[in-house]
Amino acid sequence: MEGSAAQAPGKTVLRVVAISGSLRRASANTGLIRAAAEICRESIPGLEVEHVDISELPLLNTDLEGPGPGAFPAAVEAFRGKVRAADCFLFASPEYNYSISGPLKNALDWGSRPPNCWGDRAAAILSASGGSGGSRSQYHVRQVGVFLDLHFVNKPEVFTRAHQPPRKFDHDGNLVDPDTKDQVTKVLLALQALALRLQLGKLAVAAHSS
Ligand SMILES: Cc1cc2nc3c(=O)[nH]c(=O)nc-3n(C[C@H](O)[C@H](O)[C@H](O)COP(=O)(O)O)c2cc1C
Repeated sequence: MEGSAAQAPGKTVLRVVAISGSLRRASANTGLIRAAAEICRESIPGLEVEHVDISELPLLNTDLEGPGPGAFPAAVEAFRGKVRAADCFLFASPEYNYSISGPLKNALDWGSRPPNCWGDRAAAILSASGGSGGSRSQYHVRQVGVFLDLHFVNKPEVFTRAHQPPRKFDHDGNLVDPDTKDQVTKVLLALQALALRLQLGKLAVAAHSS
C-alpha cells in the first residue's frame, strides 16, 4: 500500500475525499456531494467530507510529467496529495453514453500514475443521471477501481434519476428530496463501516506480524 499518515489505523475521524464527475455549475452529482457533506456534519460523527474539485486538472498527457518519477504539473500534484491523504473516497458519477464521465476518468488516471495514490482504501459511489440513474457509470467506476486497488461498498446502491419526478434537485443542483437524502445517508454509513473495518484489519495484520 502506498500510504499516508491519514491511513494510520485507530483514527476516530475519517476524511472522505469526494469527487464529482460533472463540472457543470448546477450539477446534480456535485449536489449529491454537498448533501453528503451536510449529512456528515449534522448526523454522522467521525466522517468528514471534503469535495475535491477536478476542473483544473489538465487532460492526461504523460508528456506533462517531469523526467523523474513523481514530477507532475502543480494542479495534478495538489490533487494527488489530497488523494494520498484521504481515508476513503466518495465518487458522484454521472453517466455519459453508458459510461463514466471524461473528467472523472481523467482524475482517476492522474491519481493512478506511479506511485498509485488510490490504493487499499474504501470507496463508495453515488450517481445522478438520466433514465438509468447512472448504474452503468457506477459499474465502470468499479471496473477501473479494480486496478486502482479500491475496495467498494457493495450495498446499498443508489441510482438517482435526476430529472424524473419527484423533484430531487433545485435549479442550483442542491438535493431537495428527502428519500434520496436518506439513501445517501445509508451509503455514507456503509462507507464509514467499511473504512473502519479495513483500518482495524490493518491493525490486526500489523499485530500478527510483529
Ligand atoms: C454527453 C452526455 C451523455 C449522457 N449519457 C447518458 C446516459 O448514457 N445515461 C443516462 O442516464 N444519462 C445520460 N446523460 C444525462 C446525464 O447523466 C444527466 O443529465 C446528469 O444529470 C448529468 O449530471 P450532472 O447533473 O451532475 O451534470 C448524458 C448527458 C450527457 C451530457
